[in-house]
Amino acid sequence: MTAPRKTAIITGGARGIGRASALALARHGFAVAVLDMREGPLAQTLAELKALGVPAMSFLADTADHQLAKRLTAQVVQEWGRIDVLFNNAAVPQTRRLLEITEAEWDAEMAVNLKGYFNWCQAVAPTMLAQARPGQLGGRIIMTSSVAANTGGSPHGISKFAYAASKAGVLGLTRGLAKDLAPAVAVNAICPGAIETDRTRDGFAPHMDHIIRTTPMGRVGTPEDIAVVVAFLATMEPCFMTGEVLDVDGGANVN
Ligand SMILES: NC(=O)c1ccc[n+]([C@@H]2O[C@H](COP(=O)([O-])OP(=O)(O)OC[C@H]3O[C@@H](n4cnc5c(N)ncnc54)[C@H](O)[C@@H]3O)[C@@H](O)[C@H]2O)c1
Repeated sequence: MTAPRKTAIITGGARGIGRASALALARHGFAVAVLDMREGPLAQTLAELKALGVPAMSFLADTADHQLAKRLTAQVVQEWGRIDVLFNNAAVPQTRRLLEITEAEWDAEMAVNLKGYFNWCQAVAPTMLAQARPGQLGGRIIMTSSVAANTGGSPHGISKFAYAASKAGVLGLTRGLAKDLAPAVAVNAICPGAIETDRTRDGFAPHMDHIIRTTPMGRVGTPEDIAVVVAFLATMEPCFMTGEVLDVDGGANVN
């Protein structure tokens, strides 16, 4: 009997790191569901996934909506019968300093960057737990945090303290759920450093010399630099790693 095709859900999959990771998992043979709030780029990523010859679906949806995460998860399970990987990746920047930020802006940051991650973990966990067999994982959850979780944010203007706080929360969520869902589900996080995407390009531009000078690998990162690590965490066999945090930053934060 051939093993069923593995499936993955990727939040923030329309562009940037999410899109590159969706394509990387498709190249590994995964059926991929991408979710995002940007309609045009989402449709384009869906077409690219289909062009790779794998089953694919897309959802125009907000990760901050708790009930919606449950409904969409049920749709994926109904269509494909299983969920092997959740890549929790959708997040928004917050550039305000403490004396500028409003309560509503703080709440909005946490609603997407932290509660959104919780929403999707809770939505997929019952399916992953039910899929587990003795000695065999039932699923893997991968989170995009950020080096900002540890540094408190960058001088490049796109990741000040509220963003850093949300990303540090993601590390706590990762470590806590690694224990909560063990041994059925592996939960790991990636902390990207400076990765050039549609979101960061303009903000990085004036600081590019500094970024390159302070990155031992001597260049800015690409979405594919993260996607290859997502694919590793999604596919490595055997998997004896959970609650771990991988910095993917060209060595910029080696100390
Ligand atoms: N690019 C970097 O330098 C960098 C560094 C560290 C961490 N990160 C993290 O990597 C992840 C991806 O970043 P990116 O640079 O690819 O950003 P991006 O803006 O290019 O992609 C993020 C995607 O998430 C979507 N999204 C945002 N909020 C959403 C919501 N509520 N519901 C559904 N979709 C939503 C956006 O529409 C977008 O398509 C984020 O978690 C980000 O915080 C990025």
